[in-house]
Amino acid sequence: MSVEGQPLFSKLQGHLDAINAIMQEDISGIRIIKACVREAYEKARFGKANDALVRTQLRVLVIFAFMNPAVNALMYGVVAVILYTGFFQAASGSVTPGDVMAAVTYTTQLLNGVLMLVMLFQNISRGLASWKRVKELLNSTPELADGSFDGDTKRRGEIEFRDVSFTYPGAARPVLEHIDLTIRQGETVAVMGATGCGKTTLANLIPRFYDVTEGAVLVDGVDVREYRQRALREKVAIALQKAELFTVPIGENIAWGKPGASAEEIASAAEAAQADGFIRSTPEGYDTVVAERGMSLSGGQKQRLSIARAVLKRAEILILDDATSALDLKTEADLYRALEEKHPGTTKIIVAQRIASVRRADRIVVLENGRLAAVGTHEELLAGCKVYQDIYHSQMGEGEIA
Ligand SMILES: Nc1ncnc2c1ncn2[C@@H]1O[C@H](COP(=O)(O)OP(=O)(O)OP(=O)(O)O)[C@@H](O)[C@H]1O
Ligand SMILES: [Mg+2]
Repeated sequence: MSVEGQPLFSKLQGHLDAINAIMQEDISGIRIIKACVREAYEKARFGKANDALVRTQLRVLVIFAFMNPAVNALMYGVVAVILYTGFFQAASGSVTPGDVMAAVTYTTQLLNGVLMLVMLFQNISRGLASWKRVKELLNSTPELADGSFDGDTKRRGEIEFRDVSFTYPGAARPVLEHIDLTIRQGETVAVMGATGCGKTTLANLIPRFYDVTEGAVLVDGVDVREYRQRALREKVAIALQKAELFTVPIGENIAWGKPGASAEEIASAAEAAQADGFIRSTPEGYDTVVAERGMSLSGGQKQRLSIARAVLKRAEILILDDATSALDLKTEADLYRALEEKHPGTTKIIVAQRIASVRRADRIVVLENGRLAAVGTHEELLAGCKVYQDIYHSQMGEGEIA
């Protein structure tokens, strides 16, 4: 049993994990499950994981259900034997009845001790399985080691990619290859390219969400790996491709990156992000509580709140990763104009799919399969970059280009 007990508990924990993961997925994906009529499939998937848990749990229970009666039976069996042999010896006068009773008491005490040990063993094996998992968590080292540089540099908002290549952990092919690019302070640089070409990956290397595989990313002349992560992330504000909101008032959602921001600061950031208007039209304005994961807001509203959050940080570098994809062209243009007026010194990196969104940028970077295809202004690229021309012509047909 001692061999069997512990691995069974580990298995039990594994099954519990699986169930939790499925439940989490099902609850957060409930709409898509309904939309795709996959209820039965998800039910079966849950049922399968649940059966595995029940089976293992039953085995554990059966083993322990047998253990206690087995030890008890052993104990009373021994007592019976002592009483039986004691009876004849006492009758023959070789021991006194008191001796027999003493032997019974001692034996019972001893076997009670054994019983306690068995119970202890149950708890220990359960505890060991849990301890093993806690240890796994505690021993996991962060992939990115923190640097020691506090980020006090003269240059403010300069970015340099020095021969950067990047492969996702465990992936076979590199996503970015030999990127060389310098972005000056205050410049607005747009990043364009087909879906999946590595735009988000490129943007994520600046706040060091991942470490480069080769080469280096420098912010203000210092390798991002040398920065304290806090210091680096104070320099870089990013609005992610998928807006993440929390179940707190709108104002607090915007101030997430800068707790303690004043109401004026929040409103000013919201104005720049073209969010002020719709926020004021909600029942309680900035105090309206956002539903879970932003369910009460439209895609474009979520994006604008997420941009306002990034803008409020007033960081030296502002990255908008496809953060305006759900906005109509006019709102988007107003937003870029407001950013330019309110934050002229901020280095802006704008990842976008639409040429209309990026044509006014100082420079446009065109990525193709993880390589820099071209860098230049809208006019330069239109004259000399095949990939850009193709994108241009494909979008012109849709009347997207103003
Ligand atoms: N966490 C990850 N692990 C492994 N591979 C990834 C990961 N994230 C992205 N990839 C891969 O890296 C490539 C580039 O992804 P990335 O998100 O940078 O593209 P993108 O240009 O931002 O695309 P989109 O325009 O759709 O946002 C894709 O082929 C994708 O499959
Ligand atoms: Mg992306």
